[in-house]
Amino acid sequence: MKTTLLAVISVLSLSSSVLGAKCGTQDCGAETPCCVKGFCNRNALYCAPFNCEPANSFTPTSCWETAHCVDHTADFAQPPGSGSFAQVADYKGDPNQIKYVSKFEPSNAKQANNQLELTLVKQPDSTGFGAVVTGTRAIQYGTVTAVLRSASTSGGVVSSMIVRNDVRGDEIDFEFVGSERQTVQSNYYSNNLLDYTKMIRSPALPDTTQAYHTYEIVWTPDNITWIVNGQAFRTVNRADTWDPETGVFKYPESESYVSFSVWDGGSGAKGTSDWAGGPINWAAEPFVMGIKSVTVSCFFKGNETTYKPPTVV
Ligand SMILES: *[C@@H]1O[C@H](CO)[C@@H](O)[C@H](O)[C@H]1NC(C)=O
Ligand SMILES: *[C@@H]1O[C@H](CO)[C@@H](O)[C@H](O)[C@H]1NC(C)=O
Repeated sequence: MKTTLLAVISVLSLSSSVLGAKCGTQDCGAETPCCVKGFCNRNALYCAPFNCEPANSFTPTSCWETAHCVDHTADFAQPPGSGSFAQVADYKGDPNQIKYVSKFEPSNAKQANNQLELTLVKQPDSTGFGAVVTGTRAIQYGTVTAVLRSASTSGGVVSSMIVRNDVRGDEIDFEFVGSERQTVQSNYYSNNLLDYTKMIRSPALPDTTQAYHTYEIVWTPDNITWIVNGQAFRTVNRADTWDPETGVFKYPESESYVSFSVWDGGSGAKGTSDWAGGPINWAAEPFVMGIKSVTVSCFFKGNETTYKPPTVV
């Protein structure tokens, strides 16, 4: 009898603490409503829509509302504090005030030398800790143009310019790997299907870690075009992405965030490390991606500006 009762109690407490949890092993409450990767909190790092996980949060509307696309240019040569860029802790949820934020804490992204600099930093265990900068407004089709220099002066260092929806796993990207400084790779994914066979390289470019080039993604409901310095080198037509087996177009179509990142691809899984060019040669530091500007032109005009900032606590 006694053992049976104990067993019942332990099953009950298990179900309330584990089965009820949505955010990893936690269950976010009203005080700390926003979930990110298994943790609950109430600040911008957790509640801003580019980080927050609506399905795992206190309620589906606990995350701050998604701000839709508005045409803009962020000129990172402008003085810090003028609205192009901020750290996530300084973001109060109003995309009209700040266009791009650094997503991580601690942050390895800052404005310096008339550009936005994302640095890959060596950690005590000799792996690299990088940076991710995201737009504060989402975009569903449009043109993204950035003038930048890659950080990838060693194998293992990956630099990226990405349009991505984390929840759905839709992505359109430019990626730079240190073993190929004379080219940039283009790729796209839909619905979290990581099909690496669709990568296509740009034609040869002057060293992408030294020279600034203009990289452009043109994304419409019908096609995606990748352009460098005004030269289109690849178009994917939605019509050609039809998969008869699953009955879907494997085409990115969900509202997504523009982001830039530097990360250590050399110390992870073998496939990723081989692609990134192996372990990082730390003698080649510093690894700094420099972004001069980003311009976004939205495909849909006129229905984008209804956003109201959250009441920040
Ligand atoms: C804008 O309007 C178009 C056309 O009505 C619609 O398909 C699209 O989803 C809207 N976009 C956003 C971001 O609200
Ligand atoms: C891509 O699609 C748009 C409409 O969504 C069309 O105007 C344009 O011509 C297409 N571009 C190419 C390269 O096929």
